[in-house]
Amino acid sequence: MERFLIVGGNRLKGTVRVSGSKNASLPILAATILNTGKSVLYEVPGLRDVSVMKDVLVYLGARIKCDKGCVEVDTSNIKSVEVSEELMRRMRASNLVLGALLGRFGRARLSYPGGCQIGTRPMNLHLKGLSAMGAAITEKFGYITAEASRLTGADIHLDLPSVGATENIMMAAVLAEGVTIIRNAAKEPEITDLQNFINGIGGCVRGAGTDTIKIEGVRHQDLHPVEHTVIPDRIEAGTHIVAAAITGGDVVVANVIPEHLEPLLAKLREAGVDLEVGDDWVRVCGARRLKAVDIKTMPYPGFPTDMQPQLTSLMCFAEGTSVITETIFENRFKHIGELRRMGAEIKVEGQTAIIKGTGRLSGAVVEASDLRAGAALVLAALASENGTVLEKVTHIDRGYERMEAKYNALGARIIRVHN
Ligand code: UD1
Repeated sequence: MERFLIVGGNRLKGTVRVSGSKNASLPILAATILNTGKSVLYEVPGLRDVSVMKDVLVYLGARIKCDKGCVEVDTSNIKSVEVSEELMRRMRASNLVLGALLGRFGRARLSYPGGCQIGTRPMNLHLKGLSAMGAAITEKFGYITAEASRLTGADIHLDLPSVGATENIMMAAVLAEGVTIIRNAAKEPEITDLQNFINGIGGCVRGAGTDTIKIEGVRHQDLHPVEHTVIPDRIEAGTHIVAAAITGGDVVVANVIPEHLEPLLAKLREAGVDLEVGDDWVRVCGARRLKAVDIKTMPYPGFPTDMQPQLTSLMCFAEGTSVITETIFENRFKHIGELRRMGAEIKVEGQTAIIKGTGRLSGAVVEASDLRAGAALVLAALASENGTVLEKVTHIDRGYERMEAKYNALGARIIRVHN
């Protein structure tokens, strides 16, 4: 078990560079399965979740070479179409290989990913989409098997704009016969990056970033090697921006696409955070006392659920009462009990948290229950009086590359303790 010892009270100052996006890298790595030859990806972050996806590809028979952020994947020799239960348990997003395996090989078998810390997270929309394209789906003994000699294009309306379902259906449709249309599709920037990768290997996808995506099926022999650079991670960037604001620091967050951050930046401006936005950077000067704001998580371009825990920490330091409503996942308030241990005054009623900004927290022994809850607690600890012991930081390593090194370079004091 690893933990962080965090000494609070230092204002963060300097420049921090954001790594490539986790949530773009995972589906793009899955989409390399479709390719006939090599896919070379740049700016792939060195994260635990990304390692699991690489392990899944190797398990299936792909050859992978890594050199820092560059990952070369050769999927020409993939033989297996089955992902073990152990790999599915290590990361839910392993389910993203379903569409690509089915599209390329006509068959895929995965252990059911089940629920997770932040909610039940079913796969019904993924499976409904694939069966509309002609796949026969069976669910038995905790495994999902999908089969189709060749998928056929279909007009699919998602009940809700699921990111994973949009990605899985998009990947399955690349090699299907005819045209697939996904309506009420997710509009997240990571979907546009996946579209760009697929088109780079010779697929034909249009409309990502809007709620209607059209995929014209191509033949496997029409696909070809590609080099692709993954977009910067907007959630990592957002976390650094809040780290600067919560510590009253002065930080330039570099390597960002500011447009992807707009749903967060709009809220922070409303709260009184001083922001300067450049072409590929955001500068945060957080010296003033912030105002409480209300937040409701929504699919992109609404306020991201993956930033809700970090904003909860920030609102503990704002003046007034904030109301935060979580509409995407049913179990995403686990950081709140831990923030209360640090002195936060927060009431939870169903999916709503009411935060009285007291302007101060004090260090305590707390635990990261999941990735973004862990990030929220790091931010709270950076701004707290006294020291904090944060347990289970492996959750944080799933989605942040060397978080403590990045913050220590800005003047924080975080020590990683093994065992
Ligand atoms: C992705 C992100 C995750 C982010 C989430 C929402 C990755 C690897 N993960 O997760 O960081 O928090 O988007 O922005 O990109 N749902 C169903 N049936 C389905 C699929 C989803 O009911 O078949 C529900 C989920 O339970 C949830 C909502 O739809 O309530 C959104 O989930 P979804 O967009 O699918 O999230 P993920 O793709 O799992």
